[in-house]
Amino acid sequence: KRRAIVCPSLLAADQGALASEVNRMLDEGADWLHVDIMDGHFVPNLTIGPPVVADLSRRVGPRDVFFDCHLSVNNPATLVPALAKAGASSVTFHIEVVNGERAAELCRTIRSLGMRVAVACKPSTSCESSGVYDLCEAGLVDMVLCLSVEPGFGGQKFKPSVLDKVRSLRSRFPDIDIQMDGGVNPTTAVECAAAGANVLVAGSAIFSAPDPAHVISLLRSAIEN
Ligand code: DX5
Ligand code: ZN
Repeated sequence: KRRAIVCPSLLAADQGALASEVNRMLDEGADWLHVDIMDGHFVPNLTIGPPVVADLSRRVGPRDVFFDCHLSVNNPATLVPALAKAGASSVTFHIEVVNGERAAELCRTIRSLGMRVAVACKPSTSCESSGVYDLCEAGLVDMVLCLSVEPGFGGQKFKPSVLDKVRSLRSRFPDIDIQMDGGVNPTTAVECAAAGANVLVAGSAIFSAPDPAHVISLLRSAIEN
C-alpha cells in the first residue's frame, strides 16, 4: 500500500480569504496545501508569493501545515530563501527552466534550507531527455510532479497522455513520490493511481464540491486501493 497524499490547490480557493480557506481544507482532511506560485512569465497568470505564504503559516499556527509550493516561474532559485523563511515545506521547480548542474545545485540548496524538493515537468516534457531521471537517480529529489494540464489555470481537462510517463517513472523509481496536478477528480484519480501516482493535487474538484471532505476521501481511496 502506497502512502496517499491529497493536496487541495489554493488556486481554486477564495483568494480574498486564504487563511480561512487553509483552515477549512485542514478541517476537511487535506494532507498538504498546494500553493501555486506563478510569475506571469513562465505561465500567463500571476498569483501569490513568499509574503503570503509567510502570513498564512503564521495565521494557521499552531496547527501543523505542509505548504507544497509549486513554482511556475522562470527563476525559482531567487524565491527559495524567502520561501524557507516563510515556512514552506516543499519546493517544486520546473525542469524546463532549470536543468543540468544548476538543477542539481538548486535541489541541494532547497534541502539545505530544510525543505523537501520536487521537480515538475509539463505534459509534453520527457522525463528522460529533460534530466528528471538523472535527478531521481542521483537521489536529489523527493518527488516528481507530472503536470496533467498546461500549467497556468485551474479547471482544465485532464490529459490522459501523461499517464504513460507516470507508468515509466514508477517502474523505474518504485519509492519516489509521484504527484499529479491538473484535471484531477475522483474519476481521473483512479487512472493516476493505477499508473503509479501517490500524491494528488486537486483544485476545482475539491473547492467546487458541496462536500470537499468526501472528494478528499475519494481521492485518498483511489490511491490506497
Ligand atoms: C495548474 C496548477 C494546478 C491547478 C489545478 O497550473 O498547477 O495546481 O490549481 O487545478 P485543477 O485541479 O482545477 O485542474
Ligand atoms: Zn500546481
